Amino acid sequence: MAEGEGRGVGKVILLGEHAVVHGVPALAVGIDRGADARATLLEGDGPSELAIGDWSARADDGTELGQAFAALLSATQTEKRVRVAARTDLLPSAGLGCSAALGVAITRSLLALRGIDEGPASVASRALAWEAIFHGNPSGIDTAIAARGGCLFYQRREGAPLVEGVTIGAKLTLAIGYTGIPASTRTMVEAVARLREQKPEMVQKAFSGIEALVRNARLALEAGDVVGLGRLLDFGQMLLSGLLVSTEEIETLCRLAREAGALGAKLTGGGGGGCVLALVEGSAEPVIEAWAREGFEGFAATIEPESARQKEAR
Ligand code: PMV
Repeated sequence: MAEGEGRGVGKVILLGEHAVVHGVPALAVGIDRGADARATLLEGDGPSELAIGDWSARADDGTELGQAFAALLSATQTEKRVRVAARTDLLPSAGLGCSAALGVAITRSLLALRGIDEGPASVASRALAWEAIFHGNPSGIDTAIAARGGCLFYQRREGAPLVEGVTIGAKLTLAIGYTGIPASTRTMVEAVARLREQKPEMVQKAFSGIEALVRNARLALEAGDVVGLGRLLDFGQMLLSGLLVSTEEIETLCRLAREAGALGAKLTGGGGGGCVLALVEGSAEPVIEAWAREGFEGFAATIEPESARQKEAR
């Protein structure tokens, strides 16, 4: 039986979320969690089908999931009737790129079913059709990192985005903590756009500050300066709070992480809930334990310089 498989990786945004929607560069790293999909041909007539765990849709059912699936079938020029089964170990609506990892995995499985193996840039661009249904105005950073992994410097531009692999000079150890509150990226992105209309100067100043942090963080990453990177993450959190995308739970997770010895901590992704990342030197356990004592779930992610380079070369 003809079948195609595909994978997309989860991510955290180190710096630049929200500003990246408006053309400011951002830095993201892939993590060891993600999504897998398998596409098979279906006999007979009827719509194509998608199942993600126990969440399912048909391409013609008019649901958000059904519409996103239909958009991917069209973006991959899949004309035959198919069934795609996908799964993910990423928390949904948490800023870890769950929907982009699924979109990339499904895109790759549909292309593989037709014997096509494309590079990350075109896979990411096809998968944007899926993200646009869920997110409204995606910058494209989530699908870029989901398709490529490693560490990326990303800037939205007219035509094609600027996507550059960043060579990391030292291993990064992150503790990733969940506020327990799912948040809609679309709602948060719309809130920042409204704030930008109401207070253009204030938001522009925040975006300029974020851009400076992103450019300095790239240098710190390349130099393996994790202490410097930690400070930049803390500044990033301050600027995101100023854009009103932080919450009490996010601030609590950041404070607990810093008290437990983290070099820096900030929200990652859309905010309004979702996840916080903390950069640590040595083990992530003290931070994860401090969160657990207050009832917050967390896990560790490490990014090896070598793995970042290899993935980037794909
Ligand atoms: O999908 P999330 O929650 O990881 O957020 C992605 C980052 C944003 O900058 C908030 C949105 C975007 O499209 O870049």
